[in-house]
Amino acid sequence: MTRNNYSFPRDFLWGAATAAYQIEGAWNVDGRGESIWDRFSHTEGKVNNGETGDVACDHYHRFAADVEIMRRLNLKAYRFSISWPRVLPSGRGPVNPAGLDFYDRLVDALLEANIEPFVTLYHWDLPQALEDMGGWSERDTCGYFADYAALMMRRLGDRVRCWATFNEPAIVSFLGFRTGQHAPGYRSQRLALQVGHHLLVAHGMALQSMRAIKSDSEAGIVLSLWPPEAQSDTPELKASAEKLWQKDEAWFVDPLLRAHYPVLGWQEYGDDVPEIRPGDMALISQKLDFIGVNYYSRKLMGPDGQISPVPGSEHTEMGWEVTPSSLRKLLVRLQEEYRCPPIYITENGAAVADRVAEDGSIHDERRISYLRDHLVAVHNAITDGVDVRGYFVWSLMDNFEWAFGYSKRFGIVHVDYATQERRIKDSGLWYSQTVRRNGFQLPSAGEPSEPLVETAR
Ligand code: FCB
Repeated sequence: MTRNNYSFPRDFLWGAATAAYQIEGAWNVDGRGESIWDRFSHTEGKVNNGETGDVACDHYHRFAADVEIMRRLNLKAYRFSISWPRVLPSGRGPVNPAGLDFYDRLVDALLEANIEPFVTLYHWDLPQALEDMGGWSERDTCGYFADYAALMMRRLGDRVRCWATFNEPAIVSFLGFRTGQHAPGYRSQRLALQVGHHLLVAHGMALQSMRAIKSDSEAGIVLSLWPPEAQSDTPELKASAEKLWQKDEAWFVDPLLRAHYPVLGWQEYGDDVPEIRPGDMALISQKLDFIGVNYYSRKLMGPDGQISPVPGSEHTEMGWEVTPSSLRKLLVRLQEEYRCPPIYITENGAAVADRVAEDGSIHDERRISYLRDHLVAVHNAITDGVDVRGYFVWSLMDNFEWAFGYSKRFGIVHVDYATQERRIKDSGLWYSQTVRRNGFQLPSAGEPSEPLVETAR
């Protein structure tokens, strides 16, 4: 292998990811119940510009055409989430047959196109009916989640191999309950940590209920990891980066992979630590078939102990620093410090201020270089011995970016929200080529890059 030839392992799972509330729309159609994100986005002042997921990409009605786009992109896998209130409008009790049918048809369409479905059960849209009963602050919600997971496994388990229980429990807990930026919008650290614990308990209970139905599926969880790093090598800064790792990242990694909360983090949280019942840690730390890593950037600790990026460094439209080398370090850390199960990069991508050119094309070079540089980091980590099984771009298409509404575009496919027209961006063309070749070659200095064309499998 020459140094600029990045060829990935055979069977590497190349995909793209989305989440139900961000793309489906059809929020009150065919018996779907209300979710906390409907309630939140319909509340004044919560989302940029008052935008909502009411219509979003209208994927609920356009899924067949969207699967066709995925086929054109050569995707081998598609990570999507199930809207809990679409299948169980009150979160428990009577099912909504139309909701279950929708996911049935989506899975069938994917399989027909030779694309592996990768399901996330919870990507933030709790049924509002459960929120009205206390939501994630109530332990009962864990049992309802396990029942919902079982329902989906019974329905789709014959065709879906990979199942993630939760997307980013840290974000659910910290942004939903500590900072209030996400639904349901509480602001209490103590509540956030109790909720975080309940999410982990719910994860453990769901693993059990799903495995009781089908023991040979692959079940895991998706974590958002923003590794803290010190701007300089002083012992104080390195210690404060480690403290932050324990409070944010390891707070979720350690219970899952070591069956206890990190000691330093526990001390730091003082009286706000969660109530743990006997047996909880064993439930939480059951065998995982994979860990999903969502990586966007690092947290860089400046001299004053505050998070402050290096001046002049590159940032995406989210204001997130572009730091691919931190992804390699993170993956190696997971491998070396934890007995880490196989890893999928379940999200990675960049918000770019895209412009549609007159001929309809979108030249998003910045997204291409972001994706390419992060894939180089993944490749390097694999060479270092980390067992990375696949990579999912966030996102398949532009969509509702939570509190930012439609102002941030992450897609490799452009969506015109007025007409719902989809256009494959240059990054989509680049990615389809990469998937087809199972990697890429970087041009040597002075050599031109290859032209981007749509390629068939
Ligand atoms: C992640 C979320 C995903 C998307 C990206 C940009 O934290 O899981 O839904 O919003 O950020």
